[in-house]
Amino acid sequence: MKKCLFLVWAFLTICTSLYAQPKIWDETETQKKERMQWWTDARFGMFIHWGLYAMPARHEWVKNQERITNEGYQKYFELFNPDLYNPKEWAKMCKEAGMKYAVITSKHHEGFCLFDSKYTDYDAVSTPYGKDLIKEWVDAFRSEGLKIGFYYSLIDWHHPDFTIDRVHPQRVSTKEDYNRLNQGKEMARYREYLKNQVREILTNYGKIDILWLDFSYPGENGKGREDWGSVELIKMVRQLQPGILIDDRADLQDVAGGWDFVTPEQYKVDKWPEVNGKRVPWETCQTFSGSWGYYRDEHTWKDTKQLLVLLIESVSKGGNLLLNVGPTARGTFDYRAQDALKNMGNWMKYNSRSIYGCTEAPETFIKPANTLLTFNPVTNRLYIHLLDYPLQSLKLPGYMGKVKYVQFLHDASEIKFSKSGGRSGSPETENDLVLNLPVIKPPIEIPVIEVILN
Ligand code: GLC
Repeated sequence: MKKCLFLVWAFLTICTSLYAQPKIWDETETQKKERMQWWTDARFGMFIHWGLYAMPARHEWVKNQERITNEGYQKYFELFNPDLYNPKEWAKMCKEAGMKYAVITSKHHEGFCLFDSKYTDYDAVSTPYGKDLIKEWVDAFRSEGLKIGFYYSLIDWHHPDFTIDRVHPQRVSTKEDYNRLNQGKEMARYREYLKNQVREILTNYGKIDILWLDFSYPGENGKGREDWGSVELIKMVRQLQPGILIDDRADLQDVAGGWDFVTPEQYKVDKWPEVNGKRVPWETCQTFSGSWGYYRDEHTWKDTKQLLVLLIESVSKGGNLLLNVGPTARGTFDYRAQDALKNMGNWMKYNSRSIYGCTEAPETFIKPANTLLTFNPVTNRLYIHLLDYPLQSLKLPGYMGKVKYVQFLHDASEIKFSKSGGRSGSPETENDLVLNLPVIKPPIEIPVIEVILN
């Protein structure tokens, strides 16, 4: 009897857990790792936020922040004509910065589609510009050898069936007001529209490497997986593009195959992010200044060193950096973005070996003061990034016996090292090594020391 009860209990437990966690995609850990390998090796990509909001040029949420109605926003659509748009130039700048992939907003929250959609006229083809912006973009980026990603906004502040909710430009405060405003709106119709559009972007442009859905806010007057039809949506996506990588914003955190990587936005993680106690692939997305869309009068631009640290620090914790450009409504990269990309490219030209294919260093390597470590497990090389250039020597605590050869990465010039403990009063132990550095800091924003390990 006891045994029988146990079996019933076990059966019910399995059933409920299966029910609670629908599976979208069946693959082993190794298969997933292989599918994501190009991306974890790449480490550095470009985000591009472009849409009608480039015209007001005061944040991609301008429609929301200023509570603009569809009618009020229509002037941007009627005048949109990026006459200087030349995605070949963009792709070149992206590649020269050292980025290996790019993700563009095919549609942002405002609802405007940069691609030719047969499900709406609210697209680039119907503006004075008159062409599919995405088609040209994909061709240009692909021919530079860059991987291609589409951001697609789950949110849509233009579609007539998208119900007014707490993050909508026309949000209200009482239940009665929501009910009144949402009369006649059918989320089921929007859900179908969204699925159709995602099918379009994943069918009409060849192989797509990344899908970046954005974003969910479940709860009262919010939206989540039921509203988007996330399970069905992701199933379709995986069927159409089996190799694709998907971000984690469709509200499917607990569903196997519902996402591939987590996306800490506009902050630095303290350590490699974990889900259920396990380290997961991650990518932080960051802006040059405070806005994703082109913002003419925003002046909080990060300097080159801050940007490089963002990149190096992400890799040092096992993650990627997706750095954003918001092109202008003429179709160009603003001069500040161009400068920032050039400066990063200068550094990457000589130091990308400490980025590509690298990850967090094994725990046995202690991080010397004012440095960041990355590690390439294939070549067995360790990279020490000098954030504050030391005076003549750098102590490597406990590195004795682990090091074969040391050089600067940018010019492959030898750095001599010795067993420490020579100087009286210094706290070094027998197992420490000391690097002999030139007094003058090399002309590199963040110099990198390459340690070839035994
Ligand atoms: C947020 C914002 C959005 C931006 C995105 C990038 O979700 O709504 O404007 O596109 O983050 O990660």
